[in-house]
Amino acid sequence: MASDKTSSPPTTTDAGIPVPSDEHSLTIGRDGPIVLNDHYLLEQMANFNRERIPERQPHAKGSGAFGYFEVTSDVSQYTKAKVFQPGAKCDALVRFSTVAGERGSPDTWRDPRGFSVKIYTEEGNFDMVGNNTPVFFIRDPLKFQHFIRSQKRRADNGLRDHDMQWDFWTLSPESAHQVAILMGDRGIPKTWREMNGYSSHTYMLINAQGQKFWVKFHWKTDQGNDFLTQDEADRLAGADGDYHRRDLFNAIRDGDYPSWTLQWQIMPYEDAKTYRINPFDLTKVWPHADYPPIEVGKLVLDRNPTDFHTEIEQAAFEPNNMVPGIGLSPDKMLLARGFSYADAHRARLGVNYKHIPVNKPKCPVHSYSKDGEMRTENVSDPVYAPNSYGGPAAQDPGGEAGLWYADGDMVREAYTLREDDDDFSQARNLIRNVMDESARARLVNNVVGHLCDGVSEKVLLRAFEYWRNIDEETGRKIEQGVRDTLGGESKAPGLASAKSIGG
Ligand code: HEM
Repeated sequence: MASDKTSSPPTTTDAGIPVPSDEHSLTIGRDGPIVLNDHYLLEQMANFNRERIPERQPHAKGSGAFGYFEVTSDVSQYTKAKVFQPGAKCDALVRFSTVAGERGSPDTWRDPRGFSVKIYTEEGNFDMVGNNTPVFFIRDPLKFQHFIRSQKRRADNGLRDHDMQWDFWTLSPESAHQVAILMGDRGIPKTWREMNGYSSHTYMLINAQGQKFWVKFHWKTDQGNDFLTQDEADRLAGADGDYHRRDLFNAIRDGDYPSWTLQWQIMPYEDAKTYRINPFDLTKVWPHADYPPIEVGKLVLDRNPTDFHTEIEQAAFEPNNMVPGIGLSPDKMLLARGFSYADAHRARLGVNYKHIPVNKPKCPVHSYSKDGEMRTENVSDPVYAPNSYGGPAAQDPGGEAGLWYADGDMVREAYTLREDDDDFSQARNLIRNVMDESARARLVNNVVGHLCDGVSEKVLLRAFEYWRNIDEETGRKIEQGVRDTLGGESKAPGLASAKSIGG
């Protein structure tokens, strides 16, 4: 159908100048060569060649939506943050993602899901960059890069490889709790709407009197948790790789707005010193019997993006975006993340990424950052502090900034172990006491399928021991299932087939 030119606005160049044609480049005669002064053709080609920006290193595939966060109870005794005061309601953005896959990878691969929340508060942007699981695979940030590489692709054949995944996990027993969750039903949520989100880390809250508390955030889905079986997920990975993205977009488009209830587990500041589990160890949960969750507010998603690139792809979440009344904690992983994200954004989006509308605070900004690539806002004098010309002046000289006492020699050592700080008991409790018989059977089935897909004999033996350490019976069933399926020992070479190893 021919376009109706009378009802359309005129096409222009990026400079707003009307262009003569949408269809024909400028040539010398009808059959002659194209000329260099067809600026519009050149602009179209040049722009096209620069359309792609680098994808996020982890969490490349995802999508998100806008909405609001609203406080529903009075939690002002724990924090002075305005976003959590009674009656507060702020705009919010949420992005969901998978971790290991690339920007075009299927939504239904087994993987933790990212659950990133940005709340635009009157005191600046508050970001909570969590996952759909309350724990993580490792507890020291030095292992993070290695962990992610083991989940992505091999150097030689460019393939994902279960051998290197289990190699890393079984050499990192602190991963047991997260791997038990990943291999169970929570490892493939049915939709993003039907999964919880967690801060996973412990954060600090500070109230108006300067009192401090430790806190874990839980975003509980109001839609109920649901999952896909491995078979359903495998089918969908082929039939509709964007299944989760489509589901979220269509639900919001149809007015079926998903929501989550925010709950907090609060630990009194002093408890952290003596609690039987190190409360800053990211591989552990705090049992609810010890610290029962309390209701805080509601997160609702009611608006789809209209430009995926500028609103979702260029969204930049960072755990260091803490507003007054909320702080970090001595969790080593969290502290490292405080550096890593802003660095990733500078690399991926440029130093002035906070000028991109989706990342821009909805409150006045008076920073002393200046210039740089793609700065879009005018800087005015004075450009330095302190100054005597009325430039911004810091109003919070310390004391309430989410700080804590630390002392000691510099060491490279793991956290000091406490009474209940072993790597396996929380995973065991999950399997024995939280999963029912059929969930346990699906877990065994999922692990057997995973281990029978390219895992070498030497890694397999470690995997059997790893699962026996978690739970003797589950370990035995997994070993049996793998041996029955393989009909004996594994013939998979693992990374031993990589030429670069061992020269
Ligand atoms: C994304 C680093 C641990 C959740 C990212 C990105 C980096 C990164 C560099 C890409 C950011 C971007 O380009 O936009 C790290 C490091 C970690 C760590 C160094 C540990 C030391 C975690 C943990 C969680 C988590 C423990 C969850 C509790 C996420 C999420 C995203 C992400 C949800 C996607 C953000 C988005 O939606 O744009 N991480 N990460 N990460 N990470 Fe982490």
